[in-house]
Amino acid sequence: MSKGLEGIRKITEIDLKGKRVFMRLDLNVPLDGGQIIDDLRIQAALPSIRYALEQDAKLVLCSHLGRPKEKGDPDCSLLPVAERLGELLGLEVILIDDPESEALTGLLPTVNKRKIILLENIRYASGEKKNDASLADHLAKHMDVYINDAFGACHRAHSSIVALPALIKEKACGLLMEKEIEMLDKALYSAESPYTAVLGGSKVSDKIGLIENLMDKVDNFIIGGAMSYTFLAAKGVPIGSSRIESEKIGLARDLIERIEGRGKKILLPIDHIIVKELKENTEYQTTQTDGVTEGFMAVDIGPKTQSQFAGEIRTAKTLLWNGPMGVYEIEPFNKGSIAVARAFSQSEALSIIGGGDSAAVVRAAGLADEMTHISTGGGASLEYLQGDTLPGLSALR
Ligand code: 3PG
Repeated sequence: MSKGLEGIRKITEIDLKGKRVFMRLDLNVPLDGGQIIDDLRIQAALPSIRYALEQDAKLVLCSHLGRPKEKGDPDCSLLPVAERLGELLGLEVILIDDPESEALTGLLPTVNKRKIILLENIRYASGEKKNDASLADHLAKHMDVYINDAFGACHRAHSSIVALPALIKEKACGLLMEKEIEMLDKALYSAESPYTAVLGGSKVSDKIGLIENLMDKVDNFIIGGAMSYTFLAAKGVPIGSSRIESEKIGLARDLIERIEGRGKKILLPIDHIIVKELKENTEYQTTQTDGVTEGFMAVDIGPKTQSQFAGEIRTAKTLLWNGPMGVYEIEPFNKGSIAVARAFSQSEALSIIGGGDSAAVVRAAGLADEMTHISTGGGASLEYLQGDTLPGLSALR
């Protein structure tokens, strides 16, 4: 039993036959003009849905999508998700267009193996983000079982995550949640050495908790992305006009000392891709040293850094990656992140990718199948890995 799942029942431990099952999922997929551009979260939800249907459950699915500005915000409708779910499962998915509507009462008796319900974006309900008891009361009214398989939303103390399970007699985690916690627990409690954590992204302040929590667990930290410039500044390396958190330089120095003081390595970029101004199709240069030229900012790790990081990654037995190595959204500056993804794919290590951006890089590079686990949670995996208690998990205990 994984530590994070202690005291939590699993979907497979509950009798679902003929029961009305409320399943909270994280179907918050990226959309472009109403088209789903990455259906990973939908695919990841299928095992629990299929399992519940095999058990003859009457299924009501619930999710949020985006951050709606008002009730009914069309940009945040789950309609494309309902259609995709229907295609993938080969059954009828009825979308109830108001999560608070009374329509559920009438529709529930018609639900069966071939016909399930998806509630519209639960954030259309004003009480959702306030963890409102009356919204939970409304949702709980018809339900026998509550399943939370929304790992990506478990760090949110929202009504469908926290207030609701307290009102339904039987509750459990879904299959995705079980897998997520088991894999992240490996990174936290039973990682084989050498263990290397690759951290990137924009801010040191976002990753302090993670570095602190991993400091006694990992053997090496590899730090890239914008946050590495605050560390380089702490070492007195010229950083040009790279964006840093000046007020965190002292903290970065302290972290370096503490990591090295434990006999562990912290690898920072030794060369960089630099630009005068950050924009598409801009000219760029590669530095020859670890210093960034005055008037330039770093936007990616350079080729020497890529090889150095890749060498370290290939010797690890456990790998964790959170945060890109550069401005990966602008194409020539995604090379450092892709090099890390490739090194992960060439390693035999247990490899865990936590965080939306690193997961996006891995999938865009077509390397997803080479990883042991890609978390479906961005904020949730970060909070879990930094040792926080996720409200959604506590609510299942
Ligand atoms: C995510 O995308 O990380 C989850 O779906 C949670 O979404 P939120 O940050 O809008 O709460």
